[in-house]
Amino acid sequence: MSKILVLHGPNLNKLGTREPEIYGKATLEQINEKLRAFAANLGCEVEIFQSNSEGELIDIIQNKSETINGLIVNLGAYTHYSFALRDAISGLAKPAVEVHLSNIYSREQFRHNSVTAPVCWGMITGLGWRGYLLALEALVGLLREGEEI
Ligand code: DQA
Repeated sequence: MSKILVLHGPNLNKLGTREPEIYGKATLEQINEKLRAFAANLGCEVEIFQSNSEGELIDIIQNKSETINGLIVNLGAYTHYSFALRDAISGLAKPAVEVHLSNIYSREQFRHNSVTAPVCWGMITGLGWRGYLLALEALVGLLREGEEI
């Protein structure tokens, strides 16, 4: 059974009350519940963490590297400038999908660039919490087919 690590970065613990007009009304725990239910349907396992700290996110990626098959990340604002997280993802050498709740391309200029997306297989942006489920479905499908893209 595929095991997928889901990492939520800084400020995502405040979902539900944090700028709901941008990020939606669902809390992080509600999103995680949807992910767990969807994972059970897909027949895979999810391990979910949130951290506000760059170093801690890197530690989790490193520590889980032997036991996971793939990675889903929403690294919040670190997306736009953390070369350290980019290196952690590329060093993992496992398929990763980047998710953003909001459409980063319809927002401020500094959000238009993701330094982490180039080391991911793909990115889903702007579809709210559904983006996490789409990412999981895609990742599990690709892993099952042993497909390289
Ligand atoms: C975000 C977009 C980032 O620009 C922002 O800093 C976030 C959330 C999103 O999910 O839309 O914290 O990653």
